[in-house]
Amino acid sequence: MSTLITNVGELVTNDPDADDLLGLRSDAALVLDEGVVAWVGDAADAPAADQVVDAGGGAVLPGFVDSHSHLVFAGDRAEEFRARMAGERYAAGGIRTTVAATRAATDDALAANVERLVAEMRRQGTTTVEIKSGYGLTVADEARSLEVAARFTDETTFLGAHVVPQEYAGDPAGYVELVTGPMLAAAAPHARWIDAFCETGAFDVDQARAVLAAGAAAGLRGRLHANQLGRGPGVALAAELGLTAVDHCTYLTDADVDALRESGTVATLLPGVEFSTRQPYPDARRLLDAGVRVALASDCNPGSSYTSSIPLCIALAVREMGMTPAEAVHAATAGGAAALGRADVGALALGRRADAVLLGAPSHLHLAYRPGVPLVRQVWVAGEATQA
Ligand code: NIG
Ligand code: FE
Repeated sequence: MSTLITNVGELVTNDPDADDLLGLRSDAALVLDEGVVAWVGDAADAPAADQVVDAGGGAVLPGFVDSHSHLVFAGDRAEEFRARMAGERYAAGGIRTTVAATRAATDDALAANVERLVAEMRRQGTTTVEIKSGYGLTVADEARSLEVAARFTDETTFLGAHVVPQEYAGDPAGYVELVTGPMLAAAAPHARWIDAFCETGAFDVDQARAVLAAGAAAGLRGRLHANQLGRGPGVALAAELGLTAVDHCTYLTDADVDALRESGTVATLLPGVEFSTRQPYPDARRLLDAGVRVALASDCNPGSSYTSSIPLCIALAVREMGMTPAEAVHAATAGGAAALGRADVGALALGRRADAVLLGAPSHLHLAYRPGVPLVRQVWVAGEATQA
């Protein structure tokens, strides 16, 4: 069934050939048919369709592409958050708390939690989500985490190299052998990507390199968590390997920024993390001015960033990271698509997947201008309306 969305006050197309970054059109309309965008133009010229949606002058955007989340977990770490807000520092070791809770949970409980969080994301305009494992850290628990994640998305990422679990604390090399051997073998059938947390207290650059190499040999594409807690070699490794994306990028040297520009690796910034850990925000302005491609994602997880809200990330990026509202919206749509190597999402152009968000506000500016306000009125995924 075809859907005409008309009376669109502002349409964000992300057309790369437009004069402005977002390819904005006013008084626009679009037709969604057979799961894709079938027509875009002036409302006055709109063709007939099986059903008509009056956008009421609201803005229509491409659905948000959240390229970084950790939704397969059990329990929460509210107490850790309380302690941080009282002055404790964030440390990667908190991940082990969630690992214990996740191992103890049933598959059904894990799936119910993912379903809840994906629904939260959807209500806030996210139409594509990447989901990582990384709270199982045994062969069986990583495999089932990815099997659960794959019920909700094609963008699944094996993150066995999240931290060294307690039982391998005295033998990190043995754990890397497990990750690159039997754990990878069990995870690979359910994963598209492989990731590692390259940071002091997690995995060093040689270990991260070994994990990515083993993943590549198993047919998985690489991405990295890097330079979240301090400067380090992870971003340079991502650029050297020509990875599609490297995530966090909070502490960067000038050489890191140059390397990202030259490799074309997308720097995925995760402002929910800095919000929730009271760390300095990444400098998006510096990256954009240097010509680095930037994405925004939620990093939704129970430790460092328990938000599922891309609108919040957009508002934080504008207020705290030097991005214009247009740059932030672009980074959360086209940027996220680039960070996942996806050409079918992140824009509203002919033939793209019909993933769209209708705001109860006249322009994309309102996402940052009205922080914390639920502006999303309707969300279409492959042309299907998902809100009541
Ligand atoms: O992306 N940095 C590493 N991993 C997650 C945090 C996970 C946690 O604290 O549970 C992140 O921030
Ligand atoms: Fe993460």
